[in-house]
Formats: sequence, structure tokens, C-alpha cells
Amino acid sequence: MLAEDDSAASNQLKRERFFQKFAQRFLNFEGIGVLLLDREFRVVEISEMICTLFGCNRDDIIDKTIEECFEMLPLHPRPFDRSLLEGEVFRNRELNWKRDKISFKLMLDGEVLQDNGAVTGAFILFRDVSHLLALEEQIRRSDRLKTIGQIAAGTAHEIRNPLTAIKGFMQLLNKTLLERSMSKEQEFVGIVLSEIDRVNELVSEFLLLSKPKEIKQVPMRIGRVLQEILPMIRNEALLHKVTVLYYPKPELPPILADKELLKQVFLNLGKNAIEAMDGGGTLIIRECIYPHESDKIAVEISDTGPGIAADVLEKVFDPFFTTKPQGTGLGLSVCQRIVHDLGGRIEVVSDEAGSQFTVWMPYAAGQ
Ligand SMILES: Nc1ncnc2c1ncn2[C@@H]1O[C@H](COP(=O)(O)OP(=O)(O)OP(=O)(O)O)[C@@H](O)[C@H]1O
Ligand SMILES: [Mg+2]
Repeated sequence: MLAEDDSAASNQLKRERFFQKFAQRFLNFEGIGVLLLDREFRVVEISEMICTLFGCNRDDIIDKTIEECFEMLPLHPRPFDRSLLEGEVFRNRELNWKRDKISFKLMLDGEVLQDNGAVTGAFILFRDVSHLLALEEQIRRSDRLKTIGQIAAGTAHEIRNPLTAIKGFMQLLNKTLLERSMSKEQEFVGIVLSEIDRVNELVSEFLLLSKPKEIKQVPMRIGRVLQEILPMIRNEALLHKVTVLYYPKPELPPILADKELLKQVFLNLGKNAIEAMDGGGTLIIRECIYPHESDKIAVEISDTGPGIAADVLEKVFDPFFTTKPQGTGLGLSVCQRIVHDLGGRIEVVSDEAGSQFTVWMPYAAGQ
């Protein structure tokens, strides 16, 4: 009997130790955050993930009431309160948080702990769903791009044909006006011709969005692409009194890309940055590599412009979204399309001090 008791006790101990190990690991698990509170709503335990996210120190938080913790953070409204202890449990409560210019979206679940029917505490689970939402947003956007692509494919060709004819006759007219020295009329025709070129450019951008373009990917150093467009960017910058700083990193491994398409991406991003700083500022183009994404290189395009408001930031990659009177709103959606086709991605962070677009591109295979 005694031996049986002993073995049951040892099994129980083993289970407890096993459970303890699990709890420890769970608290260090980066995918989910746990906040354990006692009956007085004091913090009994908090996982690393929550501390990192909110930039706080575990030891400063343990034993504090949750209200005292909230006072240290700019959280309005507070995501939960003591009503949880009275049984007001919740699921999928949204919490938005911004750290180092990065926005996080969290889902919170709150639950009470009971012992013999009496409430002994509560716990809250924090799940970071930012990536999930970004993915949803990407799918939504690519659906819209597809629809626009279909419309564009049908119309762009038809727009180009009459344009070519108009352009041809305008050039003939121009020649005749030149022969007759009708300079005033020639000036008008010149305007018509440059406007036709603008429409042509627009149609080309349309076509780029609509067709899965044939991509010629070859290994190349990102610096080569940037160096080819720098003269154009510097020229544009000069007109807007913007200083351009370029920080190359020649030791970066080559990427697999289509030079002409990538040039278009960086030109668009550079153009946007310069336009945002009309009247002066600094445009920084930096080649980087980061340990947390060591299979990719990053090119950061930062400006000292007014930044992008949060509600605008959600839409900047949408086709036709523009805040500029002369803008088409296609620049960034074309950039995104190209970078995705090349296996990379674009990210943006922004505040009052300026905006930064980062283009991530994977290395060429075997590098
Ligand atoms: N660096 C930036 N700083 C501030 N706002 C920006 C920046 N880049 C983009 N935006 C915002 O995003 C919008 C969309 O940009 P996008 O390049 O797609 O179109 P656009 O520049 O308006 O027109 P287009 O590029 O066709 O001439 C811009 O109108 C602007 O409001
Ligand atoms: Mg633009």
C-alpha cells in the first residue's frame, strides 16, 4: 500500500514538474503573451512577449496592480479592468499599440481563475495578429489590382491606337508650322505633344499593372541599380531644394532582379520622397542588411517630409490613391506589384519627422 502511495506521489510530482516546465516555456514563448493576475488584480506573472512589446521590465511590474501598470503606458481606453474579476470575460478584444514607429494589432482574451467557485484571479492572453491583418490587407489589395488589371488590359491598347495617330498628325502639323514660321501655333502644338506623351506614360503604367509582365531576372548588385538612377534623382532633388545622401554597401551579396523594373521602383519612391519635401529636406538612400532577415537585403528611402497620417498610410499602396492634384496614385501600387513579382516586399513607417519606405529583396539563389 505504502509503495503504491509512493509511486502515485512520485507520478504526481513528475506531472507537476512537467507542467511547471511547460508553464515556463509558455511564458517565454514569443507567439503568445500571458498576463496572470491575482484576486487583488496584481501582476503575478507576465511573459517576455508582453514586456518586450510594451517596453517594460518584468521585475518592475510584478506585484503592481494592473491600474498602476496602465498608468505607465499611454493606453486609451484601457483594454480591460476589474470587471474581469466579476466574471466579465472577453474574447478577441482589439488593442492597437505603436512601438518604434511600428503599429501592432493585438487580440486579447480575458478569463477568470476559480477555486471551488471563488474567484482567485484572472489571466489575459495577448496574440499579435498584425501579420495576419497585413496578409488579409495584401490579399484584398491584390484582388483589387487584378480587377483593375483586367479593365486596363481591355482599354489600354484601344487608347494607344488613336493616340499614335493623333501624335503622328501633330508632328506633321508641327513641321508645317515650322516651315511657315508660325511660332505661337507651334508652341500650342508642342503642348499638345507633351500632353500626349503624358497620357502615353499613364497608359504604360496601366499596362504594367494589368499584365503579368515577363520578368528578366539576373543576379545583380543593388548598388548598380541605384547608381543608374541617382543622377535623375539628384536632378529632381535640385529642383525641389532637397539634399540627397546615398550610403552604398558594396559588400552586399547580389540579388536576382530585373534592372529596368527595379529602377522604376526606386525612381517612384525617390520621386515621392522629393515631392513630400517640396521646399527643402534630406532624402537618404541606404543599402542595408539586418540580422533578423539575413536572407534579404534592404534599401531604405527616408525623407524629412511631413510624414503620412495613419488613415492615409493604410491606403498609400492602393491604385489611384493620391493626395496630389497632379498625381495618378499609381506610383506606389506599381512599385508594390514589381517588388512582389520579384519575390520581395515593401514596408513603410512614418511619423511627423518623415517617412521611410524599405524595399526588401531576397538574395540570388546560392549566395
Ligand atoms: N514619402 C512620402 N511622404 C509623404 N506622403 C507620401 C510619400 N510617398 C507617398 N505618399 C502618399 O502616398 C500617395 C500615393 O503615392 P503614389 O506614388 O502611389 O501616387 P502619387 O505620388 O500621388 O502619384 P504618381 O506617383 O502617380 O504621380 C501620395 O499621393 C502621398 O499622399
Ligand atoms: Mg508617386
